[in-house]
Amino acid sequence: MIIDGHTRVCGLIGDPVEHTSSPAIHNTLANICGHNLVYVPLQVKRGKVADAVKGAYELNVLGLNVTVPHKLEVIDCLVGIDSLAETIGAVNTLVRTEGGYIGYNTDILGLERAILSEISTLQNETVVLLGAGGAARAVAFLMVRMKASKLYILNRTFGKAKTLADEINEYAGCILAYPMELSDYANIEEERLAVIQATSIGLSPYDDQVVLEAPEFYKKIFFGYDLVYRPAETKFMKLVSEYGQGKAVNGLKMLLYQGIIAYELWNDVHISEECAAKVYEALEETVRR
Ligand code: ATR
Repeated sequence: MIIDGHTRVCGLIGDPVEHTSSPAIHNTLANICGHNLVYVPLQVKRGKVADAVKGAYELNVLGLNVTVPHKLEVIDCLVGIDSLAETIGAVNTLVRTEGGYIGYNTDILGLERAILSEISTLQNETVVLLGAGGAARAVAFLMVRMKASKLYILNRTFGKAKTLADEINEYAGCILAYPMELSDYANIEEERLAVIQATSIGLSPYDDQVVLEAPEFYKKIFFGYDLVYRPAETKFMKLVSEYGQGKAVNGLKMLLYQGIIAYELWNDVHISEECAAKVYEALEETVRR
């Protein structure tokens, strides 16, 4: 590509940023779409996000992704926030508007698109969420939006599952979420389950581990989604494939679609599935390295 006086800049702010795969997503998209845009990682130290966002605006930066440790603190630096991002309390994408940036959570919108690219709906399905940390929290709100009929939240620390379930039920305005300890999986009555693995277990160096091993649990799964994408096939996915009734998918599509949605917001375009498939190939290559 040619960088010239018209080149627009987008980037990722966080610390560390060296591990990021996002440049592969956005620079491939710019290339395919013929946009004069570059995407670069920008290291911003803890406590400096307000200075960085203000500076980025003055530097005419078109859009930013935000990663650890700034996803909460960045909310105070915005001129507006999308309602879902506000509910979840985390922002990972800033979109330039007149006077400042508006914040979105494309992580969660990306997960929604990733799930919908694999199965047509989660509406009226029973969903089991493994974990109750930061990532699981966002997934739980998404399950309300996707109209799951029931949400079991299974976590090693029951108190965290309970706190999250209470928050979800208040948001949903009905009893949708049921907290449980992992060992209580046998109390789940339903025979058809979509399961989302949102703990950090399965991620390298814990890649030979899973929070729940019981084949009786896996036999009920018609769709298993692991937020982890390194390794490409986690232990959770192996168990879903071995005992379950359907698909097991890793978190790489979530990473793909969070980037695609950010790119769409920055450039006011729609990215086709054909184009998404090409970007996915580039992303897979980067992650394999
Ligand atoms: P993230 O932001 O990636 O969600 P987190 O907020 O630290 O990270 O949450 C990690 C999740 O993985 C939690 O649900 C955690 O369970 P606890 O709430 O009991 O800590 C879960 N987790 C981490 N290590 C685990 C382990 N060895 N066994 C079971 N669950 C584990």
